[in-house]
Amino acid sequence: MQVSTIATELVLHFFSFMNLKTLIAAQGVCQEWRRLVPLADIHPDRRRLLHLFHNVVSDERFLLYEKLQISFVDRQAYIDQLLQQYPKVPDTFKLWILEWPSRIVIQGLSPFDSLQEAKYDSFNRRNGVNWIALNPPQILTLVYSPGADKGGFEVIPALLAFRSQSLTAWIIFDDRPELSGRVYTSYDYVDFVDTELADTTELGALHPDWIAYISFLWKKQAESWHPNGVDRGYRPPKPINTSRITYFGFRRLRDLPTPRWTRRHEPRSQEYMRPDWQRPFDLIRVLQIIPGSGD
Ligand SMILES: *[C@@H]1O[C@H](CO)[C@@H](O)[C@H](O)[C@H]1NC(C)=O
Repeated sequence: MQVSTIATELVLHFFSFMNLKTLIAAQGVCQEWRRLVPLADIHPDRRRLLHLFHNVVSDERFLLYEKLQISFVDRQAYIDQLLQQYPKVPDTFKLWILEWPSRIVIQGLSPFDSLQEAKYDSFNRRNGVNWIALNPPQILTLVYSPGADKGGFEVIPALLAFRSQSLTAWIIFDDRPELSGRVYTSYDYVDFVDTELADTTELGALHPDWIAYISFLWKKQAESWHPNGVDRGYRPPKPINTSRITYFGFRRLRDLPTPRWTRRHEPRSQEYMRPDWQRPFDLIRVLQIIPGSGD
């Protein structure tokens, strides 16, 4: 065995232990390492993030990136906060929180941006509230119906990712395999999964996991966004005062629409979440999973 072969084996071995940031740095070291990184035995989810990272930074419109106000976030503390509220954080979301570069922001989704209501669209931001920036994060409660034939309703834990006038995006924390880590997006006032829509749009869809969702958003943004296209004119984002956040608030984007997961047993939460189709449907948040959909 030649020395260079041993060296290559060794380098590939090291790559398999590296986190995303180090892999990105390693690829910048030399042509040889750049060529070798894809050959290493890297965790599949980390590999997906690496692929997405290269897609974003190789797009020439990356230069149009608006510099968001990046604040310091203790990544591990963020995950620990979630673990105090539910025993498992979905793998792909956890990996993204721990390793994704803070300055690469896809459609405004970032734990490092300050919590504010954005009032306009740019290449890497869309108007609405990036609720992932709420720190400490709060797991909320969704009402879940496993399907018409099975009947019944139950409550499940989910993290609100984003809210705009027309869209709400949730990361489902429930540990069952058919739910865990799925990203559920809905029209603000129509919270059921419509399989017809799921193929073609972001709305009413159940995405397999967080990386699939942000990759989908990136693809959609890269396909549709033109510098001279949508121009709503700059309006400064409005900061959200976290000590004034209201739960159960479904009308304003700066309110959290459902109760905290840790308070799901309280009478007010119970009343709020009791599905009753006679009530105005914006009062309930029902995630109805139609069996066999969303794969
Ligand atoms: C945020 O809200 C709290 C409680 O209403 C208030 O005391 C505080 O001054 C507010 N902070 C800012 C920056 O407006």
